[in-house]
Amino acid sequence: MKNQNNTTKKGKMILICSAKGGVGKTVITANLSVALSKKKFKTIILDSCFQFGNTHLVMDLMPKFTIKDAVEQMNGLNENLLTSYLTSHESGVKILPSPPSPEYADLITLDSLNEICTLLLNSCDYLLIDTTSGLPENNLHFIEKADEILLITDLEMTSLKNTKSILSIFDALNLSEKVKIVVNRSTMKSLLKAKDVPKILEKESLLYIPNNFKIVSRSINIGMPFVMDYRRKDITKSIFHIADILSIDS
Ligand SMILES: Nc1ncnc2c1ncn2[C@@H]1O[C@H](COP(=O)(O)OP(=O)(O)OP(=O)(O)O)[C@@H](O)[C@H]1O
Ligand SMILES: [Mg+2]
Repeated sequence: MKNQNNTTKKGKMILICSAKGGVGKTVITANLSVALSKKKFKTIILDSCFQFGNTHLVMDLMPKFTIKDAVEQMNGLNENLLTSYLTSHESGVKILPSPPSPEYADLITLDSLNEICTLLLNSCDYLLIDTTSGLPENNLHFIEKADEILLITDLEMTSLKNTKSILSIFDALNLSEKVKIVVNRSTMKSLLKAKDVPKILEKESLLYIPNNFKIVSRSINIGMPFVMDYRRKDITKSIFHIADILSIDS
């Protein structure tokens, strides 16, 4: 695979971000990672919600190590040591979880993040980064480095308004080409409909994930990504569609 600078690297960095919180980034990261793994891609998740990350929880994992261990060993860190800190999911997905408690978030500098991402990209096909919402410094760093950005929104006016603001920043930074907009809960009962979104955001070719609160909340509560046991449901098909699009673009 080639990155933006045309230098060879193994993996592709996919950033899962949003302008507003609670729109489904973690649910999508977990399920998309399993879908990519089912397509035989070596997939790693980096949970970059360093204060209150919970990606491992929605996959029912109890990590022994986290990114805190990696940054504490920064001087001697290499690919072997870093991959020994990953926790494996039964699907084959591996995860580098967020620190065990919020006060450790400050340990993670941009330099250490950069090194960790480089090493992880050497040992996978896809590095999925689950982020906190908005544009904190870490996200700006990821946005610049990512090969693809999945910008998640739902149908709420506030989400769409903030998504539009972030899109204009991406446009100004010439990053629009690597951005894919994902409208999550697109079939939700709401004043605004999914068909209105392209006009509101002034973008075409959006991706859609239907609303299915029953399946999603059950999946979070039992810690099993829904793509594993609801194979025929539209919500699962929509996740595989995104996985197909990402892998076609590779
Ligand atoms: N497609 C969907 N259908 C129904 N409910 C959904 C769907 N996607 C997400 N949800 C619900 O939305 C809630 C928030 O999802 P999630 O935690 O993934 O959001 P987030 O963007 O990661 O939030 P944060 O910004 O706090 O990290 C979940 O509790 C889940 O039940
Ligand atoms: Mg989240």
